[in-house]
Amino acid sequence: MFSVGKINIEKAILLAPMEDISDVSFRLVCKELGADVVYTEFVNSEGLIRKSEKTHKKLEIIEEERPVGIQIYGSGIDSMASAAKIAEKKNPDLIDINAGCWVKNVVAHGAGAGLLKDPPFMQKLVKEVVDSVSLPVTVKTRLGLDNDSIQILDVAKRLEDVGVKALTIHCRTRVMGHKGEADWDWIPRIKEVVKIPVVVNGNVLTPQDVQKAFNETGADGVMIARGAIGNPWIFYEAKQILNHGSITSIVDENLKIKTCLRHLHLAIKVKGEKRAVLEHRKFYSGYLKGLPFASQIRKELMAIMEYNFVEDILLKYLERLQNEPVEEVIT
Ligand SMILES: Cc1cc2nc3c(=O)[nH]c(=O)nc-3n(C[C@H](O)[C@H](O)[C@H](O)COP(=O)(O)O)c2cc1C
Repeated sequence: MFSVGKINIEKAILLAPMEDISDVSFRLVCKELGADVVYTEFVNSEGLIRKSEKTHKKLEIIEEERPVGIQIYGSGIDSMASAAKIAEKKNPDLIDINAGCWVKNVVAHGAGAGLLKDPPFMQKLVKEVVDSVSLPVTVKTRLGLDNDSIQILDVAKRLEDVGVKALTIHCRTRVMGHKGEADWDWIPRIKEVVKIPVVVNGNVLTPQDVQKAFNETGADGVMIARGAIGNPWIFYEAKQILNHGSITSIVDENLKIKTCLRHLHLAIKVKGEKRAVLEHRKFYSGYLKGLPFASQIRKELMAIMEYNFVEDILLKYLERLQNEPVEEVIT
């Protein structure tokens, strides 16, 4: 059971924090399609303290997406505690500490997976954050820095001891980045040493993987990252598998295209039309995957700068798909 603060969800399916992906528009789309808990992208603690406008924007959450966690990162004990207090003012359901980011710049500053270099220091930093806020604090981390330095059992116990309310384990090491097979075998072992909820992350790319991850690990939650990009109905399909044993309602072209447009419409409200339309380009291949003429439509969309034109192309395309038998339109 994923029990954190007021959240109590059996077999929770969570949308991962993802930089430049998990903004409020994408979080809401995923939520509407069945994500139980969503997270902001990681938010830099120093940027929050400096009052950077760009960083503060990343804290924006809305009621409809709850339960939502704000994820913060940094390596300074005082700055992380101050950042947590700033994030708390936005009243998320939880605050998550990033102890898993593998990116060189982040790790070199001792943040993200860099915290795994020194578990006692990491524990001190996390304790300070826990003590600075009244919201529940969770941690997302990796198995270790590399295969020779996996200390996750010790790290998990240390974090539980200082009051962390749940752990998400990206079952890769720092050196693996996002490549290679995630090793879910660690999850049952971690669950043996801590009582707090443990969420499995890494390599959950299909709705079937969600069920497999629950069955194989006994985790309290499964977190999806890349598997949701351009494919937010993974939550909808995974829920069907968990509840009914199979996918009972297929995702048709109507849902795909309407979801693509809804996502863009929401994104425009957050970032304005120009930026939203430009940034939406990275989602088209996912949203149109498997549909006839997808590459041609995608090519057309890549040249568009206004929402109205995107809508026009996609709705006409949908009409065409619905009016012509599929055999005739497949190229
Ligand atoms: C584009 C992108 C951005 C990411 N940004 C974050 C982030 O801000 N915070 C975080 O904890 N992890 C971040 N991650 C890592 C994911 O949350 C997740 O741990 C990782 O992708 C493994 O899951 P997957 O195999 O299901 O993709 C990011 C991953 C991707 C692909």
